[in-house]
Amino acid sequence: MSETQSSPTSSPDRPEPVGEPRLLLDPYLDFIRSEGIPIVEDFGLDLLSVEVRPWARLEASGAYTLVKGRGDFIDTYVLEIGPGSATAPQRHLYEEVVYVLDGHGSTTVELPGGGRRSFEWGRHSLFALPLNARYRHFNASGREPARLAGVTSLPLMLRAFHDLDFVFANPWEFRSRFGEERYFGGEGEFIPIRPGRHMWETNFVPDLSTFELRAWSARGAGGSNIMFVLADGTMHAHVSEMPVGTYKKAHRHGADFHIFPVTGHGYSLLWYEGDEDFVRVDWRHGSVYAPPDMMFHQHFNTSPRPARYLAVAFGGLRYPFTEDKRRTFLGMDVSVKAGGRQIEYEDQDPRIHRLYLEEARRHGFTPRMDGLVPAP
Ligand SMILES: [Fe+2]
Repeated sequence: MSETQSSPTSSPDRPEPVGEPRLLLDPYLDFIRSEGIPIVEDFGLDLLSVEVRPWARLEASGAYTLVKGRGDFIDTYVLEIGPGSATAPQRHLYEEVVYVLDGHGSTTVELPGGGRRSFEWGRHSLFALPLNARYRHFNASGREPARLAGVTSLPLMLRAFHDLDFVFANPWEFRSRFGEERYFGGEGEFIPIRPGRHMWETNFVPDLSTFELRAWSARGAGGSNIMFVLADGTMHAHVSEMPVGTYKKAHRHGADFHIFPVTGHGYSLLWYEGDEDFVRVDWRHGSVYAPPDMMFHQHFNTSPRPARYLAVAFGGLRYPFTEDKRRTFLGMDVSVKAGGRQIEYEDQDPRIHRLYLEEARRHGFTPRMDGLVPAP
């Protein structure tokens, strides 16, 4: 990697070459290239098997894992903490939501004005680091590594400010982001809105695989979900579940909803309006992908248990941030025929249901879509 690539900004020791125009710069990309860990990029990735390498800033190992539909504001990375190890303390002016892929350990967050909170996580835990809080992760196992997936708004912040000290050494304390003490203990506040928009406010969810969801029939076949507000952040997270033998209705929206399957396994079909064929992604816990901008996508459960996934994006139900997110949260379960963003079962391409019936035979489960989808 050349020195030019690895420097996010010019410095007094190395002035810009005379006459070289500065244009089309990407301070975010320059920064992650300077970190010395792998940068992998694909439509979707398996985060459990992606190669990690030593990461000096964290005193751990990691890789940046960029998916095609990530959008402009957020990224993902994998962090691996060695047996009995802890990360170097971190603090940053970007938001971060963490999903635990494997292992168990704890995280300590320092509070404004002193004091700290700690919580213990394991596989399937979800938590947010309060904005610009100082924190440290600890692996509780002396034998096994722990692997975490982080979703961050680092791209947004570095592209906006392109100043590393402002983002990584900023003393401002965002006191309103820490929430109540019980939010670090896995408790939270249920905020009833309406189906598909019910919210749970907290900082930490110990186990997404067992968290209670709420019915949301308008997205299809016995589905359920919950919207999270984590550390009062702009970053969005929600969990959805499909019962055995079912699939959701297709819909579309802007880029950046990163999908992390939690329980079960299945596949998704993706296509742009007018496409002849579908893009197919098979998934299970450890996978990540993000439907690209306005690409229709539809999720199918092929496992003998309910299939649940976590979705993380920038702009949530409380703070949508973009006009597209506002429209998504209003129209994600409204038919395209009524100005929304969803394709109802009766309007879908007949190949979609035929493929699901083939998958049911192959995997040996009973489809439970009778009465919802017209007979093939
Ligand atoms: Fe979606």
